Amino acid sequence: MRRLQRFLAVLREDLEAARTRDPAARTAVEVALGYPGVHAVWAYRVAHRMWREPGLRLPARLLSQFARFLTGIEIHPGAQLGRRLFIDHGMGVVVGETAMVGDDVVLFHGSTLGGKSMKKGKRHPTLGDGVVVGAGAKILGPVWIGDGARIGANAVVVKDVPAGAVAVGVPAEVRVAPHPPEAVWAEDPAMYI
Ligand SMILES: CC(C)(COP(=O)(O)OP(=O)(O)OC[C@H]1O[C@@H](n2cnc3c(N)ncnc32)[C@H](O)[C@@H]1OP(=O)(O)O)[C@@H](O)C(=O)NCCC(=O)NCCS
Repeated sequence: MRRLQRFLAVLREDLEAARTRDPAARTAVEVALGYPGVHAVWAYRVAHRMWREPGLRLPARLLSQFARFLTGIEIHPGAQLGRRLFIDHGMGVVVGETAMVGDDVVLFHGSTLGGKSMKKGKRHPTLGDGVVVGAGAKILGPVWIGDGARIGANAVVVKDVPAGAVAVGVPAEVRVAPHPPEAVWAEDPAMYI
């Protein structure tokens, strides 16, 4: 019972994350019914629980694919995603099996946390807390993206990005952010919409 309560609290946090990060969001009901990014994260949370039971891996994958069919967002149930993840717009987001994502991360539509090789083992990126990944950005391979880093729209990242840095371009060029990581969302979030 306590585990269920904790799980529901995590789902509520996901809803709140969407409300606070999207200036266009008006009510919790609107977000709960109309935000595919929230639906995809909720489906992932259930699928990830199932994935941890070896006997439930096939249904976990099927649930994940059903969520992809509904939302256009593909999150492998084996990925490890932190709390309050917000996927904005969502369509075309792909998160690979060995990706790890910290808390308070934002992924825009078309972003990919993907692999560069077919080898088994850790082959997808690790994102720290508070990372923002712009629309269409591809982060490829087992690279590390530090806390509060921002990845520009359409960047292709194949190397580590330090905490608080901004990476733009193809291949992504890293530059030091003008603001400390904690200040990113203190700015007007509408600039990202
Ligand atoms: C990368 C980003 C976070 C940088 O924001 P910022 O810190 O305000 O930086 P600036 O806009 O001042 O840009 C800094 C430099 O990077 C360049 N730049 C910014 N974003 C870029 C991008 N996506 N691709 C290539 N270059 C980019 C700017 O032209 C500028 O270059 P300059 O120093 O030669 O003049 C932001 O531009 C971005 O891409 N955010 C993602 C937003 C998004 O995906 N929105 C989707 C809404 S639906």
